[in-house]
Amino acid sequence: MKVEVVLTEADIAQEFAEGIEARDLPEKFFFWSPRSAQAWKSLSEDAALYGGLSMTWQALAIGVARLARSFGPRVPVISFGAGDGMRDLMLMNALKNEDREAFYFPVDASQAMLELACAGADDQDFDSTGIKADISSPVHLVYAADAAEPPRMFIFSGNTMGSFDPLAEIRYVAQCLRGGDRLIIDGELYDETETMARRDNPPVRRFLEVLLSYLGVGTEDGEIRFDHKLDERHKGLHQIARYFRVERDISATVSGNEVALERGERLSLNFQYTYTPESFRWLLREQGGLEIIEEFPSADGRFLTAVCKK
Ligand SMILES: C[S@@+](CC[C@H](N)C(=O)[O-])C[C@H]1O[C@@H](n2cnc3c(N)ncnc32)[C@H](O)[C@@H]1O
Repeated sequence: MKVEVVLTEADIAQEFAEGIEARDLPEKFFFWSPRSAQAWKSLSEDAALYGGLSMTWQALAIGVARLARSFGPRVPVISFGAGDGMRDLMLMNALKNEDREAFYFPVDASQAMLELACAGADDQDFDSTGIKADISSPVHLVYAADAAEPPRMFIFSGNTMGSFDPLAEIRYVAQCLRGGDRLIIDGELYDETETMARRDNPPVRRFLEVLLSYLGVGTEDGEIRFDHKLDERHKGLHQIARYFRVERDISATVSGNEVALERGERLSLNFQYTYTPESFRWLLREQGGLEIIEEFPSADGRFLTAVCKK
């Protein structure tokens, strides 16, 4: 298994300590430990939550011949925030059936996730090189994109863009695309009742609690809460913020050091954007400067997936 390291564990540990000091934990920490990676794997296999997205990827795989036409015999597949890589693998197998050879480059901050993605690809005889990098950094994104020559297939799935400022993130990702490259990207669509129900439920709470347990903090110490607000920069951008409200004075353990958290404090557990179809398309076209070639709405209405080019 090959993994190139741009983002080191020492960098991540430093950022984690700073995040706790600032009471603000970015997305990467929810997938950092092997337990978190396993918890995400279980969550993403939950058909009630992600079954619709899996069906979209089946549809993409069935229609892969159209996509394959833009590529030669070798297709570099570069997946930003690859997770366990299961969706990427579906597409790579479909490419194989079209006589294309896929070379896999999962990009993720989590070593545990990269190991799952590379092991899955290795098991099915795909050549893979994991890239441990921070996809919120334009420099890291360009480094990862340069792992292969164009034309390349970029993937940004699982509403991963929604865990960053999407206006900035889509620009950074779009900057990586050159002529002939394709980007498959999805966004979660906002629904007045479902968006909150898909988060405020026992499986998602259990996933978030894994990170809290890593700090020595449990549900008896406070409560995970979700807030909905509109991002006024553009119509149709909905942000769901997550936070832990501390209900009694406690002490969290961060790399062996004790950090006091006082009753009433809030520890931000990042956020997730969801969109109207119009605002998702606006992000891709106006912020990213991308052309949408094809759209795949998920069967459950939760996600909209787009195939784009520059
Ligand atoms: C919601 S999961 C999506 C996984 C996969 N793309 C899918 O569709 O199932 C987000 C992934 O992005 C990774 N991630 C989060 N923040 C990151 C960052 N700043 N840099 C690199 N990877 C990050 C996480 O480790 C996780 O694997």
